[in-house]
Amino acid sequence: MTTTNHIAQPTIALYGANGHTGGYVLAELNRRGLTPILVGRNAERLRAAADRAGLPRAEIRIADVTDDAALVRAFTGADVVISSLPAYVDLGEPVLAAAIEAGAHYTDMAGEQLFLKKVFDAYGTRAESAGVTVVSGITDSNLPGDLLGYLTARRVNRPAEMVISHLSRSGGNGSRGSAKTVLASLDWFSSGGWHYEHGEFRTGPGRTTEMTFPGDPAPTEVAKFPQPPVLTIPRHSEVSYVAGALDTGILSLLSGFTYEALDSMPDEPSSDLRYDLVVDAIGADGEGVRGVVSGVDSYRDSALMAVEVAARLADGEAKSGALAVAEAFDAEDMLNSLERHGITWRIETY
Ligand SMILES: NC(=O)c1ccc[n+]([C@@H]2O[C@H](COP(=O)([O-])OP(=O)(O)OC[C@H]3O[C@@H](n4cnc5c(N)ncnc54)[C@H](OP(=O)(O)O)[C@@H]3O)[C@@H](O)[C@H]2O)c1
Repeated sequence: MTTTNHIAQPTIALYGANGHTGGYVLAELNRRGLTPILVGRNAERLRAAADRAGLPRAEIRIADVTDDAALVRAFTGADVVISSLPAYVDLGEPVLAAAIEAGAHYTDMAGEQLFLKKVFDAYGTRAESAGVTVVSGITDSNLPGDLLGYLTARRVNRPAEMVISHLSRSGGNGSRGSAKTVLASLDWFSSGGWHYEHGEFRTGPGRTTEMTFPGDPAPTEVAKFPQPPVLTIPRHSEVSYVAGALDTGILSLLSGFTYEALDSMPDEPSSDLRYDLVVDAIGADGEGVRGVVSGVDSYRDSALMAVEVAARLADGEAKSGALAVAEAFDAEDMLNSLERHGITWRIETY
């Protein structure tokens, strides 16, 4: 008698599956041979998204973010929930809470310090008690920022001082979802948010006023920006200072966002969304290294990173609780896994 071993495929539920980033998540899940459950508030839009992604047989489950019981039902049976929503500060918590309640691991594409702080402070213990892992904030800024923070800290004399910056190489426009995210926390984004200094998170001005980005002949003027890795790097690395910085030109564009302008935004973001994510780490002796991740498309890459995180969560690679990416997974292995998608990384002396 012969027996066939079938390796069980993980069940992944995607909330916000019909959005721009959700489309990339579906495409990557399909490429990996995984059929997700599409969750959201509108069956027609979700079905259309499943068809576009070549997943016509995928299950659709309807749950509004205001209906906790429906969310828990929608996530029951899933190994992992991926949340792809705009403005996590307003909309994100019910999906996270329901995933934990349903016993599913959780990840999302939040780019907001205020949301990530809440995830660690209010949901870490709940996730641990439920035996699930929560890895929030998987974007083309945050995942490379956290992992490069981990790796560069270990290549300099500690405690290290770090500055993290994301530079769009095309200067193109982002998605409506991102615009809604910025509008929901406009004051926080404009003020620069938190940096980490001597053991605590502080508001107020940052120290860095210019950075020379990879390949550039001259420095770019930058100002403090609320990068989420400011919150995660001190969890795993010995640092005395961590701050985010952004090109002041991009920052003033963000600061000028209005709800009226949202209506006139193009439906799709620009097609060229190449970027560099830079982490500069200076050791206590003044010697420094620079970590760089160069990517192809901010939205596609964030989706690819979230699917990679979801697959590793489903494999049970991480301990339970709310974790930074570098606490959950091996940093080099995670970065290497992205190279097949044209997302490259390096650490150089400078
Ligand atoms: N570089 C970065 O920082 C980066 C990169 C990638 C993604 N992101 C983040 O990823 C998120 C998604 O962006 P996106 O461009 O994909 O957004 P999007 O295209 O606007 O899609 C948003 C999704 O959320 C759903 N949604 C919106 N409001 C909802 C509500 N009140 N209740 C239930 N569902 C709701 C939408 O469904 P409906 O059709 O039903 O409204 C849609 O499925 C944003 O937070 C963005 O900032 C960030």
